[in-house]
Amino acid sequence: MSKILLINGPNLNLLGQREPAIYGKTPLPEIEKGLAQAASAAGHQLLAFQSNHEGAIIDFIHKEAPSALGLIVNAGAYSHYSYAIRDAIAAVGIRAIEVHISNVYAREEFRHKSVLAPVCVGQISGLGIDGYHAALKWLIDHARD
Ligand code: DQA
Repeated sequence: MSKILLINGPNLNLLGQREPAIYGKTPLPEIEKGLAQAASAAGHQLLAFQSNHEGAIIDFIHKEAPSALGLIVNAGAYSHYSYAIRDAIAAVGIRAIEVHISNVYAREEFRHKSVLAPVCVGQISGLGIDGYHAALKWLIDHARD
């Protein structure tokens, strides 16, 4: 059984209440539960983490990535400017997929840039919470690559 990491960054603890027209009505614990079930059905284990703090996200990556198969990361607004989270992903060399619930390219210009994208295998943006499931599926399907 391999461990797959899920990181949600700042303000994503408010999913369900926060701007539901943009981010939907599903609370984060429900999203995490659905992903944990999908991972476990495929014989893997999901380890979910949410934090509003950059350093806590980096500490989690340092601690968990060395023993994980891959990482699904929605770093919220940090995606657009956190060189420190980008460097943490690069430092541990984990296979990461960046997810955004909303289509960041259809929104404000500051959301069009991701500093994480270059250290991720790919990026999913605008598919709602299905994006997390697509990322999980890819990591599972490519577990042996
Ligand atoms: C987000 C998009 C970011 O621009 C924003 O700051 C978020 C959520 C998304 O999932 O669509 O917090 O990452």
